Amino acid sequence: MKTQLLPATDESLALAARLFEEGQLVAFPTETVYGLGAHALDRKAVLGIFAAKGRPADNPLIVHIHDRSQLEGICEVNDLALRLMDAFWPGPLTIILPRKAAVPDEVTAKLDTVAVRMPSHPVAMALLKACNLPIAAPSANRSGKPSPTSAKHVFDDMDGRIPLIIDGGESDVGLESTVISLVGEKPCILRPGGVTKAMLEEVIGPVDLAGSILRPLEKGEKALSPGMMYKHYSPDGQVTLIEGEESAVVEALRRLYAHADSEGHRACVMCFTEHVEALADCHPHDIGPKGDPSEVAHRLFATLRDLDDEKMDVIFSEVVPPEGVGLAVMNRLGRAAAFRTVNAEEIIRI
Ligand code: TXA
Ligand code: MG
Repeated sequence: MKTQLLPATDESLALAARLFEEGQLVAFPTETVYGLGAHALDRKAVLGIFAAKGRPADNPLIVHIHDRSQLEGICEVNDLALRLMDAFWPGPLTIILPRKAAVPDEVTAKLDTVAVRMPSHPVAMALLKACNLPIAAPSANRSGKPSPTSAKHVFDDMDGRIPLIIDGGESDVGLESTVISLVGEKPCILRPGGVTKAMLEEVIGPVDLAGSILRPLEKGEKALSPGMMYKHYSPDGQVTLIEGEESAVVEALRRLYAHADSEGHRACVMCFTEHVEALADCHPHDIGPKGDPSEVAHRLFATLRDLDDEKMDVIFSEVVPPEGVGLAVMNRLGRAAAFRTVNAEEIIRI
């Protein structure tokens, strides 16, 4: 299959809408990451998403809409959900609600719930309006790769697998939407994102955090969100996170890099802008200014993809405090590192 990569124009969006109606797949930009969409109520089309991504069938999809009236055939909306929609839609918040029968099992992985989101990206909105269909869309990466934050990332993963990619420039947030479940006793964040716990609590009161956000699932522990079971967001190289006091971290990065380099590895460090100069000999990748987790979020997946392109096999990274947007960064970075973390002071002592 030839994959067209087109800028967002009235013509390309009309073509995309036609492809959705025919049951085909189109990748499109959202404010979080690029999505790989198909008509959510068309079983066969939805199966095509799993095939193109190489995604396990038991990982459910998010249904994207442009107008709340579309939810009528999809899920049961409650008062808490309405308050969240008023506050955060359109935007990077996905809400898990009880599903309705019209939603195919392929979308929900046979769960009795469904994930819904109204994106704010103008191209996503224009496309959802042009087709006027609910669109099931996971991130447009091959399963196990970092989510794509540019049309080029999508092309790298999906060339030959889908007919059309709409280019809308770089994704603004850079990490996938916050996923909140409203089906349990208490609202619970299953995946942290740009809409933070504090922002949610301001609108609906106390919210839980799923246990496995900053650690791997324990043996026998059930994932509240099936996506959390899978190895995710990982570059091909081995990532290690370095914690500790700032100057110790910089020194530890320098020593760890030098050791890996001397052993013949293709090694590098991921560090804050402020440390790039001090680590100039350590193949530094600038993850953004210290104290600006939103910028780190924006750059993270592109950086992880660069590491693969450069065939890095050993990577040492700084970390951000796991608060606010930093929690979303550490959730993704933690998974990229399989939660391998070392303390800088201990490295220096050796
Ligand atoms: O920002 C985003 O959310 C992007 C853009 C394209 O909208 N989409 C995205 O989709 O990240 P995906 O499929 O990569 O991640 C969806 C996550 C998965 O972890 C999945 O397991 C979870 O949401 N999920 C979907 N439906 C669910 C449900 N009914 N119950 C619990 N978790 C669900
Ligand atoms: Mg994904």
